Amino acid sequence: MTTRKKLLAALKQNSGEFVSGEVLSTHYHISRAAVSKHISVLKKSGYDIESSPKKGYALRALSPLLLPDEITDGLATDFLGKNEIFYFDTIDSTNNKAKELASNGVPEGCIVVAEKQKAGRGRKGRSWFSAEGDGICLSLILRPAIPPSEASQITLMTAVALAETLLSHTGIDIKIKWPNDILVNGKKLAGILTEMTMEMDAVDYIVIGLGLNVNTPLESFPSEVKTIATSLFNETGRSYSRVGIIKTFLHNFETLYISVQERGFSSIIKRWKELSNIIGKNVTVDVIGKQIKGVVKDIGDDGVLIVMGQDGHHHQIISGDVIVNP
Ligand code: BTN
Repeated sequence: MTTRKKLLAALKQNSGEFVSGEVLSTHYHISRAAVSKHISVLKKSGYDIESSPKKGYALRALSPLLLPDEITDGLATDFLGKNEIFYFDTIDSTNNKAKELASNGVPEGCIVVAEKQKAGRGRKGRSWFSAEGDGICLSLILRPAIPPSEASQITLMTAVALAETLLSHTGIDIKIKWPNDILVNGKKLAGILTEMTMEMDAVDYIVIGLGLNVNTPLESFPSEVKTIATSLFNETGRSYSRVGIIKTFLHNFETLYISVQERGFSSIIKRWKELSNIIGKNVTVDVIGKQIKGVVKDIGDDGVLIVMGQDGHHHQIISGDVIVNP
């Protein structure tokens, strides 16, 4: 542990109480000036630390940033986030960065997070808006031992992990819309972008990109998404710790990821169905420009959407955009 981390840990341990500069300097064998320098770096990283010439330093609030040290502090995972978390203030897209890192061989479980994306991407070449410091833009690097045909199951699984996370943090009525949207009251709260590279018939890596609107006020959304998007803040009127949400999500994700690899996708399909708002609904599914209208009958054990079409045929849809008809 670096000296700065040790100083921060000492301030955290004394939760809000002052710790004198002298005590810190003696305990960590550094000068008072060095203590003060470390404290000012921590303040620059967003930690709210009160300094008093007589009493020393007191931690008033943690940094609001998505700092790797905060994400890993008490993180209850075995491998996810345990290798390296790459943090960026601004980046084009965390998925782009994660793909670059994965191609360069970083191990499974590495994570990319950013406060702001300049060119965040959604599915089907759409863009993804995220207000600086208000949302979560995060990409996971995975190297599962599964055939490429099963990769879409990881997307569905991610939606379950995220929905469970948001339910436990907020209690609001979170729904999954096939395949990868998280909705509240019919508005989009989060999206998932899965990108894969394969070698022969095995997965080389999968990048799972997650965009979640956390503390974004409705006014901050661009006009074209204001009517279709929402945030946790907008739904509940309160702000959430983004780091807290990330920690729970990583834990939930890892648990399900292990379960899917050990017991198959059918181990979580029941929960997916409970959280999904689609079975029995009248839908129009856009499959590469072709419209299929009908009623959703089920989700197959392999994650395909099964629609009984108006044409009387059962359609098994691997990928598409669903519109729920009134
Ligand atoms: C969608 O709903 O179409 C998917 C949106 C995914 C957005 C996230 S934000 C983090 C990661 N980086 C990106 O460029 N996209 C994903």
